[in-house]
Amino acid sequence: MIVITAPTGNIGRRLLSLLVEAAPEHGEEVRVVVRDPARLPEAVRGRVEVVTGSHGDAATVERAFAGADAVFWLVPPDASLTPDEAYSGFTRPAARVFAAHGVGHVVGVSALGRGTPHAGRAGLVTASLAMDDLIAGSGVAYRALACPSFFENLLEEAGSIREDGVFTDTVAADRPAPMVAVADIAATAAGLLLDRSWTGVGGVPVLGPQDLSPDDLARIMTEELGRPVRYVRESLDELRSTMLGHGLNEEFVAGMVAMKRAKDLGLDSGADRSPRQGPATAFAQWCAHTLKPAVLAAPEAVDAR
Ligand SMILES: NC(=O)c1ccc[n+]([C@@H]2O[C@H](COP(=O)([O-])OP(=O)(O)OC[C@H]3O[C@@H](n4cnc5c(N)ncnc54)[C@H](OP(=O)(O)O)[C@@H]3O)[C@@H](O)[C@H]2O)c1
Repeated sequence: MIVITAPTGNIGRRLLSLLVEAAPEHGEEVRVVVRDPARLPEAVRGRVEVVTGSHGDAATVERAFAGADAVFWLVPPDASLTPDEAYSGFTRPAARVFAAHGVGHVVGVSALGRGTPHAGRAGLVTASLAMDDLIAGSGVAYRALACPSFFENLLEEAGSIREDGVFTDTVAADRPAPMVAVADIAATAAGLLLDRSWTGVGGVPVLGPQDLSPDDLARIMTEELGRPVRYVRESLDELRSTMLGHGLNEEFVAGMVAMKRAKDLGLDSGADRSPRQGPATAFAQWCAHTLKPAVLAAPEAVDAR
């Protein structure tokens, strides 16, 4: 039995569709933990077992992980909490149940940065790495999917790209770093969940095929969208004020700012690209298939997912 948490999210819904197709060939069943089962796609209804509730809730994970051989673990970052509450606090009930139910294998979504000089001061990334330690401490075999920033973050900028030809971030315009498509994260997770010959604890970097700076992204978007796109660098103070203006938790905002500062200092640079792990969608390909339709869509039709 493979259990998928957050099956309606960016990564989770892609993983769900991969596992629903592939699990029967492997003699596996799939169970999902979902707050609102109505949000599951029609195509998977009746093909998966459903446990209703939040995977941050002790009673829910007690039911959801009973008899589980493997679990896909994804924390929904809640900006109303501190980073520690949002990652380790959310994960603590599950980690207890992993141990109590003898769950064998867990694959979790985490971040690049472990082992770098910035890892301890990288805000949300530091919190994510602490979550990995908590899961690893439960005694399961664990693989942390060490992810850089997702291509999909740019979907949140589809409106400003359409209206003004502009996207924004806080890193230097010429700082190259890896990025990744969520489809590649889902495919890597599916591979690890279906072939559980691995043991112990480790990180699996999940990277797109090349490091890209914001200027590289602007050039490729310009080519693929057929319209000029340029990068505007925002200061960390501007980012902090905007997030605080939305009423988010002050420590969470500090964690986001610290993560952005660490990325600008090279948190993700020099990530290990060998041996190559799974599929690697190129940014140009992602722009053509995913960003372009979102940018060309009528504004009200754009779904940031
Ligand atoms: N974005 C990046 O660049 C980046 C980079 C590295 C790592 N990450 C990590 O990637 C993860 C985000 O992945 P994603 O983009 O796939 O997530 P997402 O699309 O935001 O999905 C969040 C999922 O969590 C569920 N959810 C929300 N609040 C919940 C709650 N209180 N209890 C239970 N379920 C809840 C949502 O389901 P419903 O709303 O349907 O219930 C949804 O399925 C985070 O852990 C983040 O730290 C992100």
